[in-house]
Amino acid sequence: MRSQYIVKDVLAEITSKLKPFIERASREAQLLLMGHLQEDELWLITNQKSEVTNVEKLFEWVDRRAKNEPLEYITNSVSFYSQEFFIAPGALIPRPETELLIDDVLKNFPDIDAKITFVEVGIGSGIISIVLAQHYKNAKFIAVDISADALKIAKVNIEKFEMQDRIELRLGSLLEPVDEHIDYLVSNPPYIADEVLLESNLSYEPQNALFGGSIGDEIIQNLLDEVLKRNINFFTCEMGYDQKGKIRDYLITKDFENLEFYKDYSDFDRGFTLKI
Ligand SMILES: C[S@@+](CC[C@H](N)C(=O)[O-])C[C@H]1O[C@@H](n2cnc3c(N)ncnc32)[C@H](O)[C@@H]1O
Repeated sequence: MRSQYIVKDVLAEITSKLKPFIERASREAQLLLMGHLQEDELWLITNQKSEVTNVEKLFEWVDRRAKNEPLEYITNSVSFYSQEFFIAPGALIPRPETELLIDDVLKNFPDIDAKITFVEVGIGSGIISIVLAQHYKNAKFIAVDISADALKIAKVNIEKFEMQDRIELRLGSLLEPVDEHIDYLVSNPPYIADEVLLESNLSYEPQNALFGGSIGDEIIQNLLDEVLKRNINFFTCEMGYDQKGKIRDYLITKDFENLEFYKDYSDFDRGFTLKI
Protein backbone atom coordinates (compact mmCIF):
# COMPACT_ATOMS: atom_id res chain seq x y z
CA MET A 1 0.00 0.00 0.00
CA ARG A 2 1.29 3.49 -0.85
CA SER A 3 1.59 6.20 1.81
CA GLN A 4 -0.33 8.82 -0.19
CA TYR A 5 -3.34 8.41 -2.43
CA ILE A 6 -5.38 10.73 -4.59
CA VAL A 7 -9.00 10.04 -5.60
CA LYS A 8 -8.19 8.99 -9.18
CA ASP A 9 -5.57 6.41 -8.14
CA VAL A 10 -7.52 5.03 -5.21
CA LEU A 11 -10.52 4.47 -7.50
CA ALA A 12 -8.34 2.58 -10.00
CA GLU A 13 -6.85 0.41 -7.26
CA ILE A 14 -10.19 -0.47 -5.64
CA THR A 15 -11.69 -1.27 -9.04
CA SER A 16 -8.89 -3.71 -9.85
CA LYS A 17 -9.18 -5.34 -6.37
CA LEU A 18 -12.94 -5.82 -6.78
CA LYS A 19 -13.00 -6.87 -10.44
CA PRO A 20 -12.47 -10.63 -9.89
CA PHE A 21 -15.34 -10.77 -7.38
CA ILE A 22 -17.91 -8.09 -8.21
CA GLU A 23 -19.77 -7.34 -11.45
CA ARG A 24 -19.94 -3.52 -11.40
CA ALA A 25 -16.48 -3.07 -9.86
CA SER A 26 -15.86 0.49 -11.01
CA ARG A 27 -19.28 1.74 -9.83
CA GLU A 28 -18.89 -0.04 -6.50
CA ALA A 29 -15.42 1.48 -6.09
CA GLN A 30 -17.02 4.92 -6.45
CA LEU A 31 -19.77 4.07 -3.94
CA LEU A 32 -17.26 2.79 -1.37
CA LEU A 33 -15.09 5.87 -1.77
CA MET A 34 -18.11 8.19 -1.57
CA GLY A 35 -19.16 6.41 1.66
CA HIS A 36 -15.63 6.65 3.05
CA LEU A 37 -15.27 10.35 2.28
CA GLN A 38 -18.93 11.20 2.96
CA GLU A 39 -18.97 13.04 -0.37
CA ASP A 40 -21.30 12.80 -3.36
CA GLU A 41 -20.71 11.82 -6.99
CA LEU A 42 -20.26 15.39 -8.21
CA TRP A 43 -17.52 15.97 -5.62
CA LEU A 44 -15.77 12.78 -6.74
CA ILE A 45 -15.82 13.81 -10.40
CA THR A 46 -14.53 17.30 -9.70
CA ASN A 47 -11.88 16.33 -7.12
CA GLN A 48 -9.93 13.60 -8.87
CA LYS A 49 -6.62 14.95 -7.53
CA SER A 50 -7.67 15.42 -3.90
CA GLU A 51 -5.85 13.39 -1.28
CA VAL A 52 -7.64 10.46 0.36
CA THR A 53 -6.82 9.86 4.03
CA ASN A 54 -7.36 6.82 6.27
CA VAL A 55 -7.03 4.47 3.28
CA GLU A 56 -6.42 1.45 5.59
CA LYS A 57 -10.06 1.61 6.68
CA LEU A 58 -11.17 1.99 3.06
CA PHE A 59 -9.17 -1.07 1.98
CA GLU A 60 -10.72 -3.07 4.84
CA TRP A 61 -14.09 -2.15 3.37
CA VAL A 62 -12.89 -3.32 -0.05
CA ASP A 63 -11.86 -6.72 1.40
CA ARG A 64 -15.30 -7.09 3.01
CA ARG A 65 -17.02 -6.21 -0.27
CA ALA A 66 -14.80 -8.72 -2.14
CA LYS A 67 -16.24 -11.40 0.21
CA ASN A 68 -19.71 -10.39 -1.00
CA GLU A 69 -20.82 -8.57 2.14
CA PRO A 70 -23.55 -6.14 1.04
CA LEU A 71 -22.27 -2.63 0.32
CA GLU A 72 -25.01 -1.12 2.49
CA TYR A 73 -23.79 -2.94 5.62
CA ILE A 74 -20.23 -1.79 4.95
CA THR A 75 -21.08 1.87 4.43
CA ASN A 76 -23.97 1.81 6.99
CA SER A 77 -26.12 3.63 4.51
CA VAL A 78 -29.08 2.76 2.29
CA SER A 79 -31.29 4.81 0.02
CA PHE A 80 -35.08 4.39 0.26
CA TYR A 81 -37.75 6.67 -1.17
CA SER A 82 -34.96 9.11 -2.18
CA GLN A 83 -33.62 9.47 1.37
CA GLU A 84 -30.56 8.06 3.13
CA PHE A 85 -31.18 5.74 6.08
CA PHE A 86 -28.78 4.15 8.57
CA ILE A 87 -28.45 0.37 8.14
CA ALA A 88 -26.40 -2.32 9.88
CA PRO A 89 -26.40 -6.11 10.16
CA GLY A 90 -29.39 -6.90 12.40
CA ALA A 91 -31.99 -5.34 10.09
CA LEU A 92 -32.95 -6.29 6.55
CA ILE A 93 -31.52 -4.02 3.85
CA PRO A 94 -34.55 -2.18 2.45
CA ARG A 95 -35.45 -3.29 -1.08
CA PRO A 96 -36.56 -0.90 -3.87
CA GLU A 97 -39.84 -2.81 -4.35
CA THR A 98 -40.92 -1.90 -0.81
CA GLU A 99 -41.31 1.69 -2.08
CA LEU A 100 -44.35 0.34 -3.93
CA LEU A 101 -45.95 -0.64 -0.62
CA ILE A 102 -45.75 3.04 0.40
CA ASP A 103 -47.31 4.06 -2.94
CA ASP A 104 -50.12 1.54 -2.47
CA VAL A 105 -50.96 2.91 1.00
CA LEU A 106 -51.03 6.46 -0.42
CA LYS A 107 -53.31 5.30 -3.25
CA ASN A 108 -55.72 3.46 -0.96
CA PHE A 109 -55.83 6.09 1.78
CA PRO A 110 -55.49 9.53 0.19
CA ASP A 111 -56.64 11.45 3.31
CA ILE A 112 -53.12 12.43 4.44
CA ASP A 113 -54.49 14.72 7.18
CA ALA A 114 -56.41 11.96 8.97
CA LYS A 115 -55.78 11.39 12.68
CA ILE A 116 -55.44 7.64 12.49
CA THR A 117 -53.37 4.90 14.08
CA PHE A 118 -50.99 2.97 11.86
CA VAL A 119 -49.34 -0.20 13.11
CA GLU A 120 -46.38 -1.79 11.36
CA VAL A 121 -45.45 -5.40 12.07
CA GLY A 122 -41.75 -6.07 11.41
CA ILE A 123 -40.35 -2.52 11.30
CA GLY A 124 -36.75 -3.62 10.61
CA SER A 125 -34.71 -0.48 9.88
CA GLY A 126 -37.79 1.74 10.14
CA ILE A 127 -38.12 2.83 6.52
CA ILE A 128 -41.86 2.09 6.05
CA SER A 129 -43.12 3.75 9.23
CA ILE A 130 -40.80 6.75 8.80
CA VAL A 131 -41.77 7.45 5.19
CA LEU A 132 -45.48 6.96 5.97
CA ALA A 133 -45.17 9.28 8.98
CA GLN A 134 -43.65 11.93 6.67
CA HIS A 135 -46.79 11.72 4.49
CA TYR A 136 -49.46 11.26 7.20
CA LYS A 137 -48.50 14.13 9.48
CA ASN A 138 -51.36 13.68 11.99
CA ALA A 139 -51.18 9.92 12.26
CA LYS A 140 -49.76 8.00 15.19
CA PHE A 141 -47.50 5.00 14.55
CA ILE A 142 -46.86 1.89 16.64
CA ALA A 143 -44.17 -0.38 15.23
CA VAL A 144 -43.44 -3.92 16.38
CA ASP A 145 -40.48 -6.20 15.76
CA ILE A 146 -39.51 -9.56 17.20
CA SER A 147 -35.82 -8.60 16.94
CA ALA A 148 -34.27 -6.29 19.56
CA ASP A 149 -31.37 -5.67 17.16
CA ALA A 150 -33.72 -4.45 14.44
CA LEU A 151 -35.46 -2.13 16.93
CA LYS A 152 -32.08 -0.56 17.83
CA ILE A 153 -31.47 0.23 14.14
CA ALA A 154 -35.02 1.57 13.72
CA LYS A 155 -34.40 3.84 16.75
CA VAL A 156 -31.31 5.34 15.09
CA ASN A 157 -33.37 6.22 12.00
CA ILE A 158 -36.35 7.48 14.02
CA GLU A 159 -33.98 9.86 15.81
CA LYS A 160 -32.26 10.83 12.54
CA PHE A 161 -35.63 11.86 11.09
CA GLU A 162 -36.85 13.35 14.42
CA MET A 163 -39.85 11.08 14.64
CA GLN A 164 -39.52 10.14 18.34
CA ASP A 165 -42.98 11.56 19.21
CA ARG A 166 -44.64 10.01 16.17
CA ILE A 167 -43.40 6.40 16.12
CA GLU A 168 -43.47 4.15 19.17
CA LEU A 169 -41.38 0.99 19.09
CA ARG A 170 -42.50 -2.25 20.75
CA LEU A 171 -40.66 -5.57 21.06
CA GLY A 172 -42.81 -8.63 20.44
CA SER A 173 -44.42 -10.94 17.93
CA LEU A 174 -47.08 -9.87 15.43
CA LEU A 175 -49.81 -7.79 17.15
CA GLU A 176 -49.26 -9.30 20.59
CA PRO A 177 -47.88 -6.03 22.06
CA VAL A 178 -50.68 -3.86 20.58
CA ASP A 179 -54.03 -3.58 22.45
CA GLU A 180 -55.06 -0.25 20.93
CA HIS A 181 -57.57 0.16 18.10
CA ILE A 182 -55.76 -0.04 14.75
CA ASP A 183 -56.99 1.83 11.68
CA TYR A 184 -54.27 0.79 9.26
CA LEU A 185 -51.93 -2.19 9.47
CA VAL A 186 -48.83 -2.34 7.24
CA SER A 187 -46.23 -5.07 6.99
CA ASN A 188 -43.39 -6.36 4.89
CA PRO A 189 -43.13 -9.64 6.76
CA PRO A 190 -40.68 -12.47 6.15
CA TYR A 191 -42.31 -14.50 3.39
CA ILE A 192 -39.71 -16.92 1.98
CA ALA A 193 -40.22 -20.65 2.68
CA ASP A 194 -37.72 -22.01 5.23
CA GLU A 195 -36.04 -24.53 2.95
CA VAL A 196 -35.41 -22.16 0.00
CA LEU A 197 -31.67 -21.79 -0.73
CA LEU A 198 -30.69 -18.15 -1.10
CA GLU A 199 -27.79 -16.40 -2.82
CA SER A 200 -24.66 -16.07 -0.64
CA ASN A 201 -24.96 -12.29 -0.07
CA LEU A 202 -28.33 -12.88 1.67
CA SER A 203 -26.54 -14.91 4.35
CA TYR A 204 -25.38 -11.58 5.85
CA GLU A 205 -28.99 -10.54 6.53
CA PRO A 206 -30.98 -11.62 9.61
CA GLN A 207 -32.63 -14.91 8.76
CA ASN A 208 -35.76 -14.09 10.79
CA ALA A 209 -36.30 -11.15 8.43
CA LEU A 210 -36.38 -13.45 5.39
CA PHE A 211 -37.96 -16.79 6.29
CA GLY A 212 -41.67 -16.89 7.06
CA GLY A 213 -42.22 -20.57 7.94
CA SER A 214 -42.20 -23.96 6.19
CA ILE A 215 -44.57 -22.72 3.47
CA GLY A 216 -43.52 -19.07 3.62
CA ASP A 217 -46.84 -17.28 3.98
CA GLU A 218 -47.60 -18.31 7.59
CA ILE A 219 -46.97 -14.82 9.01
CA ILE A 220 -49.14 -13.23 6.31
CA GLN A 221 -51.99 -15.64 7.23
CA ASN A 222 -51.59 -14.84 10.93
CA LEU A 223 -51.81 -11.14 10.12
CA LEU A 224 -54.90 -11.67 7.93
CA ASP A 225 -56.58 -13.49 10.87
CA GLU A 226 -55.78 -10.55 13.15
CA VAL A 227 -57.10 -8.03 10.63
CA LEU A 228 -60.44 -9.85 10.39
CA LYS A 229 -60.70 -10.55 14.14
CA ARG A 230 -59.90 -6.96 15.16
CA ASN A 231 -61.80 -5.27 12.34
CA ILE A 232 -58.75 -3.35 11.15
CA ASN A 233 -60.01 -1.13 8.31
CA PHE A 234 -56.98 -1.38 6.01
CA PHE A 235 -54.10 -3.81 5.65
CA THR A 236 -51.29 -3.31 3.10
CA CYS A 237 -48.74 -6.09 2.93
CA GLU A 238 -45.79 -7.16 0.77
CA MET A 239 -45.71 -10.83 -0.27
CA GLY A 240 -43.84 -13.36 -2.42
CA TYR A 241 -44.45 -13.25 -6.18
CA ASP A 242 -46.15 -16.70 -6.04
CA GLN A 243 -48.42 -16.12 -3.02
CA LYS A 244 -51.34 -14.26 -4.64
CA GLY A 245 -53.47 -17.37 -5.31
CA LYS A 246 -53.11 -18.71 -1.78
CA ILE A 247 -53.95 -15.37 -0.19
CA ARG A 248 -57.05 -15.01 -2.40
CA ASP A 249 -58.13 -18.58 -1.57
CA TYR A 250 -57.58 -17.98 2.13
CA LEU A 251 -59.88 -14.96 2.07
CA ILE A 252 -62.54 -16.37 -0.24
CA THR A 253 -64.99 -17.35 2.51
CA LYS A 254 -64.29 -14.31 4.69
CA ASP A 255 -66.15 -11.04 4.92
CA PHE A 256 -64.35 -7.99 3.50
CA GLU A 257 -65.00 -5.06 1.15
CA ASN A 258 -62.11 -5.21 -1.27
CA LEU A 259 -58.83 -7.00 -2.00
CA GLU A 260 -56.45 -5.55 -4.57
CA PHE A 261 -52.99 -6.82 -5.50
CA TYR A 262 -50.10 -4.69 -6.79
CA LYS A 263 -47.07 -5.61 -8.89
CA ASP A 264 -43.38 -4.76 -8.52
CA TYR A 265 -41.01 -3.11 -11.03
CA SER A 266 -40.41 -6.49 -12.76
CA ASP A 267 -44.17 -7.04 -13.13
CA PHE A 268 -44.31 -9.76 -10.45
CA ASP A 269 -47.20 -9.80 -7.98
CA ARG A 270 -45.65 -8.24 -4.89
CA GLY A 271 -48.34 -7.17 -2.41
CA PHE A 272 -51.95 -6.34 -1.66
CA THR A 273 -54.30 -4.05 0.20
CA LEU A 274 -57.28 -5.54 2.02
CA LYS A 275 -60.17 -3.26 3.01
CA ILE A 276 -62.60 -4.50 5.64
C1 LIG B 1 -38.70 -8.50 5.59
S1 LIG B 1 -38.15 -7.68 7.04
C2 LIG B 1 -38.87 -6.08 6.77
C3 LIG B 1 -38.12 -4.96 7.43
C4 LIG B 1 -38.58 -3.55 7.01
N1 LIG B 1 -39.95 -3.30 7.35
C5 LIG B 1 -38.39 -3.37 5.50
O1 LIG B 1 -39.37 -3.37 4.78
O2 LIG B 1 -37.23 -3.25 5.06
C6 LIG B 1 -39.23 -8.42 8.21
C7 LIG B 1 -39.10 -7.94 9.67
O3 LIG B 1 -40.07 -8.67 10.45
C8 LIG B 1 -39.50 -9.03 11.70
N2 LIG B 1 -40.26 -10.20 12.19
C9 LIG B 1 -40.11 -11.50 11.85
N3 LIG B 1 -41.03 -12.25 12.49
C10 LIG B 1 -41.78 -11.39 13.25
C11 LIG B 1 -42.88 -11.57 14.13
N4 LIG B 1 -43.41 -12.75 14.37
N5 LIG B 1 -43.39 -10.46 14.73
C12 LIG B 1 -42.86 -9.23 14.51
N6 LIG B 1 -41.81 -9.02 13.68
C13 LIG B 1 -41.30 -10.08 13.05
C14 LIG B 1 -38.04 -9.30 11.38
O4 LIG B 1 -37.25 -9.19 12.53
C15 LIG B 1 -37.76 -8.21 10.33
O5 LIG B 1 -37.29 -7.03 10.94
